[in-house]
Amino acid sequence: MIQTACPQAQYLAHKKEIDDAISRVLDSGRYILGEEVNTFEQEFADYCGVKHGIGVASGTEALHLALVSCGIAQGDEVITVAHTAVATASAVSLTGAKPVLVDIDPEYFTIDPDCVKDAITARTKAIIPVHIYGQPADMDSVRLIAEENGLIVIEDCAQAHGAKYRGRRVGSLGEMGCFSFYPTKNLGAIGDGGMVVTDNSELADKVRLLREYGWKERFISSDQGWNSRLDEMQAGVLRVKLRYLDADNQKRVSLANDYLAGLANLPLGLPRKRDASDHVYHLFVIKTEDRASLQEYLKKEGIGTGIHYPVPIHQQDYFAKLAKYGSLKVTEKLSREIVSLPMYPELSRRESDTVIQTMQDRSHG
Ligand SMILES: Cc1ncc(COP(=O)(O)O)c(C=O)c1O
Repeated sequence: MIQTACPQAQYLAHKKEIDDAISRVLDSGRYILGEEVNTFEQEFADYCGVKHGIGVASGTEALHLALVSCGIAQGDEVITVAHTAVATASAVSLTGAKPVLVDIDPEYFTIDPDCVKDAITARTKAIIPVHIYGQPADMDSVRLIAEENGLIVIEDCAQAHGAKYRGRRVGSLGEMGCFSFYPTKNLGAIGDGGMVVTDNSELADKVRLLREYGWKERFISSDQGWNSRLDEMQAGVLRVKLRYLDADNQKRVSLANDYLAGLANLPLGLPRKRDASDHVYHLFVIKTEDRASLQEYLKKEGIGTGIHYPVPIHQQDYFAKLAKYGSLKVTEKLSREIVSLPMYPELSRRESDTVIQTMQDRSHG
């Protein structure tokens, strides 16, 4: 079976170095907030081109902590998309603020700046653009709207580690950038993990405080914090994988280029890349009105596919009641047509060729 993602293949590709990192942590006797986390925070911040990185428990927590550190709370509104992982909206509702869900651009599937403008009210405090599938959002427009309206921009970078927009890495384009290290991500741990990156020293200090019980000094809380730490084991593994991130992203781009060329003659919607951005293809998502039968056919031929995401957030029970939203026609149509094809750095050329050939056979057979 050709899988859509395969974190184990990445472990096997760097087994010796990862095993060594794990042994190093075990032998150190320090398992929480030690040398590995400190070093990884700096290495990842440097990689993103910002001053600070704060390791946290997950991508959801990175967003949650970033929002709280910016003072976002009940009574506030935060504008984001309905076409994203539910975690983006969960992080907003965890603060007590209201997620305001807007539509996406039909070509690139990222937040539609005109819809953001229409959704701004006196209560709006922040915008969360999501760099979906590995492609940066239209950050020039988002930043301009934010500046004109005094809003904070918090980037959801969970699917776009290493992607660039006008030559700058995601995470460095807003007030704060939030990453997930869920195992299938472009930079994935062997469990959960996340990071907030920022150039703003005050906000970085605040996130550090909040992620560990509000402690400025050990055992003494000076704020309402909780426990949301990245652990040493994950940081050790992530330090190994960070060294391969650019090469791995390049492999994803090569696979994507093969798919784009090999599927170009088929009646499918293929992903499009903005001129201003480098796409890192966390997912390779195509569009077809014939989704169910395509998925079934590929499954029978031993090829796994996914749907990211089948139900837009405003149509999920909890957020249907809680969130604020208007017409989301592009999102709704897209959610009925998208299919994610196998995409991960260790996917072989032979396997991607099999995917292409199988889809060609279906079309011509
Ligand atoms: C766009 C997006 N935002 C946020 C998250 C949340 O990350 P995590 O699963 O690490 O909490 C994810 C991953 O699931 C995601 O894809």
